[in-house]
Amino acid sequence: MKRRNFLVQTLAGGAALLARPAAAQPAGHTMPSMAPMHGMGHAPAVVPVAPALPPPPAAPLAAPDALPSGAPLPDLFRLPNALSDPAQTSRLFRAALAAQPTTQTFINGKDTAMWQYTAGVNESPDGIAGPLIDVREGDRIEIRFDNRLPEPSTIHWHGLPVPPDQDGNPEDAVAPGAARIYQFKLPPGSAGTYWYHPHPHMQTAEQVYHGLAGPIIVRAADDPLAAWPEKHLFFTDLRLDVNGNIPPNGLEDWMNGREGQYVLINGALQPEITVDGDQRWRIWNACSARYLKLAFSDHRAFTQVGTDGGLLKRPITGVKALLLPPGARAELIVQAGPANSQAALMALAYNRGKMSMSGSVPAETDRVLAQVKFAPAAGGARALPTWLRSIEPLGEPVAQKTVMMTEQMDMQNMHAEGPMGLPSGMRFLINNQSFDPKRVNMTSRRDEVEVWTVQNFTDMDHPFHIHGTQFQVLDHQFEGKTVPESFLAWRDTVNLRPNEVVRIATVQRMAGLRMFHCHILEHEDLGMMAVLQVE
Ligand code: C2O
Ligand code: CU
Ligand code: CU
Repeated sequence: MKRRNFLVQTLAGGAALLARPAAAQPAGHTMPSMAPMHGMGHAPAVVPVAPALPPPPAAPLAAPDALPSGAPLPDLFRLPNALSDPAQTSRLFRAALAAQPTTQTFINGKDTAMWQYTAGVNESPDGIAGPLIDVREGDRIEIRFDNRLPEPSTIHWHGLPVPPDQDGNPEDAVAPGAARIYQFKLPPGSAGTYWYHPHPHMQTAEQVYHGLAGPIIVRAADDPLAAWPEKHLFFTDLRLDVNGNIPPNGLEDWMNGREGQYVLINGALQPEITVDGDQRWRIWNACSARYLKLAFSDHRAFTQVGTDGGLLKRPITGVKALLLPPGARAELIVQAGPANSQAALMALAYNRGKMSMSGSVPAETDRVLAQVKFAPAAGGARALPTWLRSIEPLGEPVAQKTVMMTEQMDMQNMHAEGPMGLPSGMRFLINNQSFDPKRVNMTSRRDEVEVWTVQNFTDMDHPFHIHGTQFQVLDHQFEGKTVPESFLAWRDTVNLRPNEVVRIATVQRMAGLRMFHCHILEHEDLGMMAVLQVE
């Protein structure tokens, strides 16, 4: 793939560009669908929130080694269940999450103003990432969300089959100072590795790069790997200037999706991970736009046992590199090996077709994510089951749909500011339309299996994501060849290379509105998102 200069790039048929209609910005409901909750009192009043942060003056970026590195991998802090019933006979997980301004120190002596999720409005954050929501199939979830940000927000439960009106859609925004309760039940078969993040209209990228994202684990009672020690690697991306501030997006961030100079795991830069005996790793790519092509520096193999929606049928052994696009998750088995050893966990260079305003895109390079120390356990290697769980093909489709991803760049208006301060000269489209929360783009019927043909007609990679369900990838058409997907798996995010066509089988089980979009958050905010109405 050749690198491109922005000036020779698209203009997509020379089409004139339209700015987004101002009406596309919803007012945001206060306290929508507030359900009665026991022990939590009545609907909270709207409270004052911190004023919008003034944009920090533009300052040079901090050096790549300005953050300390090499500390042991921090554990993720678990969101506590507020219920006192230790036996949890009620199978109810009740908790609170507040999104609020916080201060952290990454660079010695400098404060970094962030936005983070805390376990309630009066709590301070426990670390940088999370908190982790660790729950079980069959649990009922009740999470009170307090928005103490200076702008509307929502919590979206990425990958989980929650009812549409509980899924943090942009049209269900929680106003600054307001609160709501999200309620849903985790059905049988939903065990897997998920995450949560804000999903307000046009402000998702900004909220995530300020620090709002957290992991979710749903456990199954019959998990064949339940006894394996687990490591959790929640990847986020951070950009800091020399003063420790998180700078706003520039034009190239909007074009390509933002990447910071730091990749954090559970909030730490290049931590040390100890594999003292074989382990199960759950990995989240919660970066706004960064692709993680994971590999060990000594090319040692690992085993993949799961995808976004939980375990595979059988372990895939001998994996040397795994591409995790933004939004995706994986479960791996990492073996300690026969003798003490050491390797770096790397993100290998991956060219995703970035564009440039200045004429040249710097080449992608390999990056060290963590140092890993391997030490065999006294009992030797653990026996890995050859069969993990059954996954059946979704079966014959009753409907077909086509989803087309395109982009339009308008050089004349490249520097003009559009609604919400987003650049107006750049549009990322689905089926030739920019996201409008008031428009339904497609309709599906409940419980009907559909095959979606997703086409990327742009010159860069886009990770495609559908809300509320896990789908099965059928095949990839790329560079003139059709390659069937080599294994059955449940996914909610699939990457598309330039001019790639991916066919997926998908089904929605609940009526309501579902989003589908590119999971490069800047592209989502710029319109590469659409609404599926399920009837
Ligand atoms: Cu992480 Cu609309 O998704
Ligand atoms: Cu999602
Ligand atoms: Cu995209």
